[in-house]
Amino acid sequence: MTTVPAIDVADPELFRSGDPLTLWAELRRTAPVSWNEHGPGTGFWSIVSYAPALRMYRDTASFTSEQGMRLDSDEAAVRAASRKMLIVTDPPRHSAMRQMMNSAFVPRVVTAMEETMRRVIEPLVEDALARDEVDFVSDIAAVLPAAIICEIMNVPQSDRDLMVKLTSAAFGASVGGAGGCPMDQMQRTEAHADIFLYYAELMASRRREPGSDVVTALIEARMDGRPLSDEEVLLNCDGLLTGANETTRHASAAGVLALMDNPEQWRLLQSGEADVSTAVEEVLRYTSPALHVTRVATRDVQVGEQPVRAGDRVVVWNASVNRDETVFRDPDRFDLRRTPNRHLTFGIGPHFCIGAPLARVELKVLLQVLAEKVATMELAGPVRRLRSNFMWGIESLPLRLRGR
Ligand code: HEM
Repeated sequence: MTTVPAIDVADPELFRSGDPLTLWAELRRTAPVSWNEHGPGTGFWSIVSYAPALRMYRDTASFTSEQGMRLDSDEAAVRAASRKMLIVTDPPRHSAMRQMMNSAFVPRVVTAMEETMRRVIEPLVEDALARDEVDFVSDIAAVLPAAIICEIMNVPQSDRDLMVKLTSAAFGASVGGAGGCPMDQMQRTEAHADIFLYYAELMASRRREPGSDVVTALIEARMDGRPLSDEEVLLNCDGLLTGANETTRHASAAGVLALMDNPEQWRLLQSGEADVSTAVEEVLRYTSPALHVTRVATRDVQVGEQPVRAGDRVVVWNASVNRDETVFRDPDRFDLRRTPNRHLTFGIGPHFCIGAPLARVELKVLLQVLAEKVATMELAGPVRRLRSNFMWGIESLPLRLRGR
């Protein structure tokens, strides 16, 4: 029998002021796959446990990404990007597209990223130590993803400050939270448009002078025997930016908050008793910034015990799956030495996050620099959580840091 939870599992307010952890634990026990018919739209299947989530991620024949991969996708925007942008393209076309973008994520780039991240993070943390108080989100976490993007696109050093400014303006925390006022929204849209214009210039310059970056890879790629259109190149540049931006920001801010909530874990990190790469995986599992991904069923298919019909939307709640007690022992415990740690924070299967190696480097360097330089971290004001059912994160994290 189809189970229908009593409350809307996708209510954005749940993730700002509610208690999703208790709700998910209850659903994992009673209804690992359930039908959610609350809220706007036509309802959707909601998966909160590990095994059915794996099924959905891996079975790309039964579940398409081409109708969007988030609940509140703008239909017109998805139609414009579908089969042109990596994340909303199904195999086999997806595999060819992914292949051409992979060249931007080879080990050489990942190693270079480690140096870049250190150059970016060290002064940010030193500056924070010199000040009485900082907002970790806007002063540190929000600056980091732009550095990743600049590196894989090989944006000239002279333009990097501009890109950081534009990305912060396009994706930064909204004044007053809860999505912000219309003015806020307008400024974000303008900043995002400026980023697009910048990419267009970058594309033109790479056409004149090819490099070994992702923009060049996209320009030189051929799909179905023809080069990508300008629109396709730009859409995929934007896909990388949006993929990197909020996710890494929220993982680092929520990771720092978790360290403050668990001082014994912070001490393990500072003393070197917790291996930093293992710690990164736990930060990723515990913070799960990409709350959900969505697919649409292409045919009638059984998921768990539920009969999914062709055309139904199916949503996996990564943050709940990452706390499935049949896979993770003591899942609500933040344990920097947890192994194995097979979290689904980056998804799994053909769409597994292409930026995962870079996100891991960013978090690794951040944890290393904090452990090296910071003695104590304490809250300097109220934590403001994001009101969103797509990104699980923090809008404001006022901190007082003291040096070692
Ligand atoms: C903590 C940080 C990150 C998290 C939690 C995250 C999460 C995810 C998830 C869950 C997916 C799978 C989506 C699906 O199955 O539909 C994904 C895909 C993707 N991510 Fe990430 N991501 C992160 C960082 C990044 C970075 C740094 C980049 C870019 C440099 C990036 C770019 C992408 C792209 C382009 C895809 C689509 C891949 C494909 O369709 O083959 N992400 N990410």
